[in-house]
Order: sequence, then structure tokens, then C-alpha cells
Amino acid sequence: MLEAFISPELELIFYIILLISIFSFFSLAPWVPTKSSDLSRIHKILWLKPWEKFLEIWCWTAKVSLYLAKHNPEAHVTGIELSPLLFIFSKLRVYFSGLKNINIIYWNALKQDFSTFDVFYIFGLPETVTKKIAPKLLEQMNDTARFFSYCFIMNNDNFIQTQHKEQKNVYSIYEYTKI
Ligand SMILES: C[S@@+](CC[C@H](N)C(=O)[O-])C[C@H]1O[C@@H](n2cnc3c(N)ncnc32)[C@H](O)[C@@H]1O
Repeated sequence: MLEAFISPELELIFYIILLISIFSFFSLAPWVPTKSSDLSRIHKILWLKPWEKFLEIWCWTAKVSLYLAKHNPEAHVTGIELSPLLFIFSKLRVYFSGLKNINIIYWNALKQDFSTFDVFYIFGLPETVTKKIAPKLLEQMNDTARFFSYCFIMNNDNFIQTQHKEQKNVYSIYEYTKI
């Protein structure tokens, strides 16, 4: 179909990227990003310390990661993304931002080792967060680490939950620490 414009090899690569993107589309998170108007709230609520390592579990276009990296120049920020197109886009954004304290990884977040990070952020569906992320956090997250979930709660009795909702008309941000 595309052969009038590009070579068969490039067309094949295009379809492979499209297939992988569709796979990640039907995965475990809502297909929308964090609201831009919530970025400064998130920054204040997470309050990263200079030495902390932050992980955004599935980062879309690295919107949250870039904001935090810019406003926390001494913290180290990592974003993980499984969609090739979004990964490439995120990498380009990071490159053009000039920031040196941020890294984007193309990888399945569910296979990532969580033990080396201090602060986590996710915008994932409640079922995913509860069934897939909570057991991983329980097993791998350090005792002093903090996990933040945008909009949705994580149901697990092994964590202390704090709800951040400063006004009526904003989304809740849920903070979890191990009991
Ligand atoms: C809700 S969006 C993320 C929004 C972003 N965190 C934000 O708050 O702006 C979900 C993203 O997760 C990615 N994704 C889904 N499953 C994934 C997985 N297992 N590993 C890494 N990324 C994944 C999707 O490609 C999509 O870009």
C-alpha cells in the first residue's frame, strides 16, 4: 500500500513499528497523559530530594519526567516506555531539552527492577496498579521508597495510603509507602 512512496523494506519496518505500538496501546494503562495543569502539583507533592532516583513507569511523551528533571536538577529521572514511536519522540524531546539528569528506556516496565529507585510515579488503570504493580513494589521497592499513583488507588493492605487532593476539582494523587 505504501510502496508508491517508500521501499518495501521501509514499509515492513513501518508495519512492525505500527504492530508494536498497537500492542502497547492495548496494554495496561489509560491512553491519555497526565494533565499539564497538574505538573506543578505533582512536583510539589513528590518533592524529590537531590539524591533521589525517580522512575516514571510508562512515560508516554516523557511529559512528567521532563518537568521533574527540569525542576529537580540534582535528582535523577528515568522514564520507561514500550511504544517505539513514543519512545523515539521522548528521546528527541530529552535531547532537545539539553537536560542531563534524565534517561528514557525502551523496555517493558513490568520487567524492570524497581529496587534501585526511590520514588515512583504511574498513571495506570486501577486493576493494573493493584494486580501487576503492587506485588512488584512489595517485592522490590526499598522500605523508604515512595510510590505515587495519578487518579487511581492501589488496593493493597501492605502499604500506607495518603490521598493528595488540595481542591475539589483536581484529580487525586495517591502516595504509598510500605508499612
Ligand atoms: C497513560 S499513558 C502514560 C502517561 C504518562 N505516564 C503521563 O502521565 O503523562 C500509558 C503509556 O504506557 C505505555 N505502556 C503500556 N504498557 C507498558 C509497559 N508494560 N511498559 C512500558 N510502557 C507501557 C503506553 O505505550 C503508553 O504510552
